[in-house]
Amino acid sequence: MNRRALIVGITGQDGSYLAELLLQKGYQVHGIVRRASTFNTGRIDHIYADRHEPDTRLFLHFGDLSDGTGMRRIVEEVKPNEVYNLGAQSHVRVSFDEPEYTADVVATGTLRLLEAVRDYMLGSKQTVRFYQAGSSEMFGSEAPPQNEKTPFHPRSPYAASKVAAHWFATNYREAYGMFICNGILFNHESPRRGETFVTRKITRAAARIKLGLDHKLHLGNLDAKRDWGFAGDYVRAMWQMLQADQPDDFVVATGVSHSVRQCLELAFQEVELDWKKYVELDSRYLRPAEVDHLLGDASKAREKLGWQPTVTFPELVKMMVAHDLELAGREQTLRLSGQLQEGRRHAW
Ligand code: NAP
Ligand code: GDD
Repeated sequence: MNRRALIVGITGQDGSYLAELLLQKGYQVHGIVRRASTFNTGRIDHIYADRHEPDTRLFLHFGDLSDGTGMRRIVEEVKPNEVYNLGAQSHVRVSFDEPEYTADVVATGTLRLLEAVRDYMLGSKQTVRFYQAGSSEMFGSEAPPQNEKTPFHPRSPYAASKVAAHWFATNYREAYGMFICNGILFNHESPRRGETFVTRKITRAAARIKLGLDHKLHLGNLDAKRDWGFAGDYVRAMWQMLQADQPDDFVVATGVSHSVRQCLELAFQEVELDWKKYVELDSRYLRPAEVDHLLGDASKAREKLGWQPTVTFPELVKMMVAHDLELAGREQTLRLSGQLQEGRRHAW
């Protein structure tokens, strides 16, 4: 079949699951990695084989959405059949601290990538299918349930940038007839979720408190409600969108929402502790403007793509706590043997 996919954001949670899925389907997978002073490929190390080994189908390229020339060069070199734009400064709270950078990467970065793909298509006469990682944050303060017809009302620089990227993508589909799908994905989590997003922050803290590695968990708004699903299910939806006959936009969600407080209850139940004894409010984790309730209606994805989620929220929390208990257990062993010093990590 010999299909080539380019994933921008391959080192992130979704990028790693998507790369696994595409490799299983026989694709040659190319991923863009940002240059960093430390290793940042932890989520894909298990699927990476040295490019000198025979049968390698995963290739990494240094690049950045803020560098249009570099993105263009990679697209020309890879000659992808499918491009997945998952690259982003994806933390909502941090986007209030770094609004310009967030807009540059999330909004203008998408435009740079679209231009690179458009020019490659013009020059090569090849078709490229493009997935744009949109977000339920774009609905912001609109009342739930939200679907493809719900207007956008973004509540953060991140969300406003995602709305801009959504409309850039839509405009390129309409203006140039490009095959572009906007996925409007509700929150999705996994054991690979970044440690500063609330579910992972909670499951990690529950595990660490249970093993005596931490004593407190500082959080912001416990009343916010989200429609949380499993990332592995959501990357399947991204791929399915690009296999459809026509490009279209799809909401991807479970249709069930829980509060941050309910997430705490489930996670601490797993380790048989009472969360109320450990959780304290820290106003640093409150946002200048909050999104109170996201609850998705994914009927269109179910009907047109045959997509549905396979993991419930309690199952997801259980999976994440089990993973974090294993990590905490390893850390405890290293500490007890004197191979690891106590250290603190800053978490938003
Ligand atoms: P993530 O774990 O934060 O991963 C983001 C990826 O983007 C990482 O590979 C990151 O690289 C890369 N990146 C950051 N800045 C970049 C830049 N300037 N140039 C190129 N790449 C850059 O996010 P995720 O949860 O996998 O989400 C994937 C995408 O879906 C994001 O666009 C996110 O905004 C969107 N989304 C996520 C959710 C969700 O609930 N997870 C829901 C809706 C939409 P490093 O590893 O080097 O940081
Ligand atoms: N991160 C974080 N840290 N969130 C907290 C905390 C805390 O200490 N305490 C309470 N919360 C609340 C936030 O205020 C928010 O209402 C909710 O928990 C979820 O926060 P996050 O897990 O940071 O996710 P998000 O919903 O803001 O954004 C995620 O989902 C979007 C899709 O709706 C990110 O993955 C975005 O990139 C994604 O687009």
